Amino acid sequence: MNSKQVVLITGSSTGFGKLFADTLARNGHTVFATMRDPGGRNAKNASEIRTLAEKDSLPIYVLELDVTDDASVERAVDAAVAKAGRVDVAINNAGYVVSGLAEAVTTEQAQRLIDTNFLGPVRVNRSVLPHMRRQRSGLLIHISSAAGRVIAPSMGFYCASKFALEALAEAYSYKLAAQGIESVIVEPGQYVTPVFGNIVTAADEARTNTYGAVKQIPAKINAALSSTAGNAQEVADAVLRTIETPAGEKQLRYLVSPQSFGVDEINALSKRVQANVLEAFGLAADTKFLKGKAVGSV
Ligand SMILES: NC(=O)c1ccc[n+]([C@@H]2O[C@H](COP(=O)([O-])OP(=O)(O)OC[C@H]3O[C@@H](n4cnc5c(N)ncnc54)[C@H](OP(=O)(O)O)[C@@H]3O)[C@@H](O)[C@H]2O)c1
Repeated sequence: MNSKQVVLITGSSTGFGKLFADTLARNGHTVFATMRDPGGRNAKNASEIRTLAEKDSLPIYVLELDVTDDASVERAVDAAVAKAGRVDVAINNAGYVVSGLAEAVTTEQAQRLIDTNFLGPVRVNRSVLPHMRRQRSGLLIHISSAAGRVIAPSMGFYCASKFALEALAEAYSYKLAAQGIESVIVEPGQYVTPVFGNIVTAADEARTNTYGAVKQIPAKINAALSSTAGNAQEVADAVLRTIETPAGEKQLRYLVSPQSFGVDEINALSKRVQANVLEAFGLAADTKFLKGKAVGSV
């Protein structure tokens, strides 16, 4: 595999996605920085990235991609492959937080969140995988969260969306290895990005108002997280290191966080438990079903 990778990033208009684009391109990787509506509401963000790319001669190309829209995902992936001839890395980064008391989150709010944070990566992975399979190499990166392993009481639906993403990414990792494709999970803790300003609040105020003092919990948690948030470049550097780690040597999970919350302990335990689970199904990690020849050529 060429050491310089062709990388497609979702949610590149701001925050981590924008930083990933800049960091990866400065290290020689070709970046498709995708975002919603680059000609409209994200026109300023798209233009900033294009200007930066031109000024510093960086290989960054802005493409439109809304992760909730199958056709939009397909168009962006097709455009990237048409331009670069391949796609080596997909970074599933687009996402947002719904905060509040779980009962006050409407089903519509829950559906929209899952459609973005969980089904978004499903769409992107389904779109890039046939290209990666043809190349017999590729890397799916899933930007989960420490909240994909532990529960912040005011973020039940956000945690659920990231727990779901973790399960999917781990399942992919077992089944794609035999085809030379890796699936990894990055778990950021709290970092300074626009994420806190973009929090969607649980809409059902009548339900919230039945909770007495408990309704203070979301504000308390959001304040604690935003006041202890770290420098987001740490996450971009971790993503760069992951991409540049040779195939076969990557970890499944990378916790990158100002504080561990014990997530590293959960990950270590989960690794041992999952080894037992695979063993119980006769699928120990070194069997040909997981690491051997691809299905169809066994
Ligand atoms: N910052 C943290 O502390 C932290 C911690 C753990 C995990 N994370 C995760 O990191 C990821 C990036 O968040 P961030 O911190 O960088 O916050 P951010 O600046 O708010 O970035 C979120 C990005 O997702 C995009 N997005 C939302 N819905 C989308 C859709 N339907 N299609 C395409 N893009 C969409 C947003 O685009 P628009 O501009 O179009 O809205 C924006 O570019 C998220 O998955 C978040 O859950 C963040």
